[in-house]
Amino acid sequence: MIMKICVVGAGYVGLVSAAILADWQHNVVCVDHNEQKIEDLLAGKLPIFEPGLQELVELNRRRQYLRFTAEMAEALRGCEMIIVAVGTPPAENGHPNLEDFWAVVKSFRENVGNNVIVMIKSTVPVGTGEAVSLYLNEKVSHTFSVVSAPEFLRQGTAVHDFLHPDRLVVGCMSPEIREQMKELFQPLDCPKVFTDWHSAEMIKYASNSFLALKISYINTIANLCEAVGGNIQDVAAAVGLDHRIGQAYLKPGVGFGGSCLAKDTQGLIAQGEVHGVNVWMFKDVLEVNYEQRVHIVQRLTEVLGNLKGRKIAILGLAFKANTDDLRDAPSVTIIAQIIKLGGLVKVYDPVVDSSSLPNIISVSTADNPYAACQGVDAVIVLTEWEEFLDLDLKRLQKSMNAPVFIDGRYLFERKRLLEAGFFLPERPSSSEWPVVQSMISAR
Ligand SMILES: NC(=O)c1ccc[n+]([C@@H]2O[C@H](COP(=O)([O-])OP(=O)(O)OC[C@H]3O[C@@H](n4cnc5c(N)ncnc54)[C@H](O)[C@@H]3O)[C@@H](O)[C@H]2O)c1
Repeated sequence: MIMKICVVGAGYVGLVSAAILADWQHNVVCVDHNEQKIEDLLAGKLPIFEPGLQELVELNRRRQYLRFTAEMAEALRGCEMIIVAVGTPPAENGHPNLEDFWAVVKSFRENVGNNVIVMIKSTVPVGTGEAVSLYLNEKVSHTFSVVSAPEFLRQGTAVHDFLHPDRLVVGCMSPEIREQMKELFQPLDCPKVFTDWHSAEMIKYASNSFLALKISYINTIANLCEAVGGNIQDVAAAVGLDHRIGQAYLKPGVGFGGSCLAKDTQGLIAQGEVHGVNVWMFKDVLEVNYEQRVHIVQRLTEVLGNLKGRKIAILGLAFKANTDDLRDAPSVTIIAQIIKLGGLVKVYDPVVDSSSLPNIISVSTADNPYAACQGVDAVIVLTEWEEFLDLDLKRLQKSMNAPVFIDGRYLFERKRLLEAGFFLPERPSSSEWPVVQSMISAR
């Protein structure tokens, strides 16, 4: 079955979905209201960094299975399936902001024919699939079949995750559509969960909030280790070896960021509150996560005495490795706090351009980690880029004014950092702090 598919939204989810469906030889048009984005795409420039995506887009544009446009009505014309992949960012009250989502859905009634499948890939509150179906089928002249197919890809491995998911979740209400979906996703070799709209929507929120919980859990254990003793890297690795727990998302550090975990946990809290369900557990998850950022700045301030005029190198801006996304990145919060306390910040990230930091944040940029660390009083690693593991740590240490190293991702083995001569500002080593401070004042 070859389908004519319109993907709405050329972001991480939309672009990856469009490229892969085109690779499966469907006839795909990807539409985005951001004209600059479409212009760039037409010029062959991807708006995001995602391993393997550029090649997939180029190949399928050449084969004419994939095209881009900013014209919604034109993109919708004649399509048999529409995939909604627009953003649903958090609003002030924690509920997802569905303005873009509904603006898109509302345009379908005027612009498409009969018997169209609308697949929701955006993460939306439980009940949205039903509401979309009611809205779209209000006019008797139209029949829309709504499918809720939440996306589980992770930025940095998005193409791989789309092609090799742990599971596919499809919420739909008719046996015929279910059969069509089985056929559409036939190339995926994974467990396939067919369920109703509400369950599909809840599966997405339940999964993300659990991952967020796991990270905040291990960070709480990390903080306890710091206070009472214990090497959190050994602790986390051993806890994760219990197959009931598993290693994934048991990485201690500066906490989660990005466009999904915090947003979806907030979204779940908001839905619980509307319905009078106690959701304290998820509130704690978010609070622990935010505190991890504050904690880094506190440790830095303690070890350096204060941050006024102190030079700090930040290695890694992206919220995680292999992406250029800065949405809710811990680096943004931490840099803003350091600057507020009078610190001077020099940054290096392999793919993020520091000009994408919010305007209020003024930093200098280095084009390699050594240049970033030259003459600084401390270095903080905030993204677990693999290339950092190849650094000559002794060289880095020697070039710094005071060799304070805060590994916000527990990327390096502690032993390696100590052998390179770094001070690790952990609480049990607080006797070393005056030594560091005298190094700085001797400058
Ligand atoms: N990023 C992820 O890792 C990820 C993973 C799984 C699910 N999701 C969910 O998928 C959805 C999309 O996330 P994303 O990260 O791809 O978002 P994104 O911000 O990268 O992309 C969304 C795109 O939609 C476009 N858009 C917004 N309104 C539009 C309109 N009216 N018409 C046409 N285009 C419009 C924007 O210009 C943007 O390019 C969200 O609900 C998110 O929660 C994201």
